[in-house]
Amino acid sequence: MSRAEGFSTRCIHAGEAPDPTTGAHGVPLYQNVTYAFETNGQVEAMRGGERPHFTYSPRGNPTVRCFELKMADLEGTESSVALNSGMAAISGALLTLLSDGGHVVASDQLYDLTRAFLREDLPSYGGSANFVDLSDASAIEDAITTETRAIYAEPFSNPLLRVTDVRMLAEIARKNELLVIVDNTFLSPALLRPVHLGADIVIHSATKYLSGNGQVQGGVISGPRRLIERIRSRALHLGTALSPFAAWLLLAGIHSLPLRMQRHSENAFHLASVLAAHPAVEAVHYPGIESDPGHELAKSLVGPGDDRFGGMIAVSLAGGREVFGPFLDSLRLCTIAVSLGDSSTLVWPWHCGNLVRVSTGLEDFPDLEADLVQALNGVIPVAAVM
Ligand SMILES: Cc1ncc(COP(=O)(O)O)c(C=O)c1O
Repeated sequence: MSRAEGFSTRCIHAGEAPDPTTGAHGVPLYQNVTYAFETNGQVEAMRGGERPHFTYSPRGNPTVRCFELKMADLEGTESSVALNSGMAAISGALLTLLSDGGHVVASDQLYDLTRAFLREDLPSYGGSANFVDLSDASAIEDAITTETRAIYAEPFSNPLLRVTDVRMLAEIARKNELLVIVDNTFLSPALLRPVHLGADIVIHSATKYLSGNGQVQGGVISGPRRLIERIRSRALHLGTALSPFAAWLLLAGIHSLPLRMQRHSENAFHLASVLAAHPAVEAVHYPGIESDPGHELAKSLVGPGDDRFGGMIAVSLAGGREVFGPFLDSLRLCTIAVSLGDSSTLVWPWHCGNLVRVSTGLEDFPDLEADLVQALNGVIPVAAVM
C-alpha cells in the first residue's frame, strides 16, 4: 500500500489482499498452529532463507502478519510486532531495550501498570527508570545518565490527560542518542502518528481503540525493523504472541477506526464542555477544550486545523470521593467499567483523589449528556446550590 493513499483507505486496505489460493475477500482467520511442508528440501530451503514458509503459529501467522503490516503502514514505520496485550508490548519492548543495564527516563504521568512494571519488575531484569515531569526539558536532561537509552511517554496520559510534547522529547533524544518510545493508546494512529513528530517506537494497547468493541486483548509495537525483530524474538521466548483470532478481530476493527475516532472525539468534546459548566464538577481534564492547560500543545501535536482530541476525559467531582457512590449508581446508560476505547461509554472511579475517568463511547450525544447530567445533578454540593 502506498503511503500516499488517504488514512481511511489505508485502514481498510493496507496489509490486506484477496487470499491468493481461494480469492477470499477479507483476511481469512488462520486458526491453525502448524504448517505443512511437502518435502525435507522445502524445510531446508526455509531454514536457509531461500524460501519463506510459515512454520508454527507463534513464530508467524498469516492473519497476525496482515495485522502487523497494516499497523506498520498506519504508523509510518518499517515494521510492527503484535503481542497478546498492551502490557506484553510495553514490557516486551522495555525488557528488550533495557534489560542489560539500560536506563529509561520515564514520564511521571503513566498508566499505573506501566509505572509498576518500570518500578517493580524492570530492576530485577537489570534495567532502571527515573520518573520525570516531561514538560520540563531541563529535568529530562538532568535525569539522563550514561546508561540512558530511551525516553518513555504517553502523549495524552492515563488517567489525567496531561499532554506531552513529543517533538521536544525527540530533540532531546537526538542530541543524546536516545530512543523516544511512546504509548499512543489514548489517541490511536487515526489522531496522532508519533513517528511524524520524531518518536522511534510506538506502542498500543490494541485492546482499546484499535479493537473498538472491547472484544480483544492485544498489543502492538511499531518501529525500525532492527529493533522490532529484537523485540519479536524476545517475545517468542516469553510466549506472548498475539492470537490469530484477536488479529482477525483487530483487522476488522481498524477498518472503522477513523470514523470511530471522529465520533469519539465529537462526543467527548461536547461532553467535556457540558461537564466543565456543571456545578457538581470541580475540574475537567480534556485537552480538546480551551480551558485545559494542555490545549495549545495538544493542537500542535494533532496538527493544524484538526479538532479531534480523542474520547478520554477525566473529571474531578466537587463533592469528592463521598459522591462516587450516588453519582455512579445513578448512571443508567453509561457503564461502570474499567478499560477504554469501547463503543459504549465506560465510567471508572479512580483509586486516588476525586477523579472519575470517562471513556466516551459512540452513543447519540443527547443520550449521553442526559445520563451524565442527571447523575451529576444528584451530587451538586450544598454550597454550590446556595
Ligand atoms: C495507556 C495504556 N497503555 C497500556 C495499557 C495496557 O493494555 P492491556 O490492558 O491491553 O495490557 C493500558 C490499559 O488500560 C493503557 O490504558
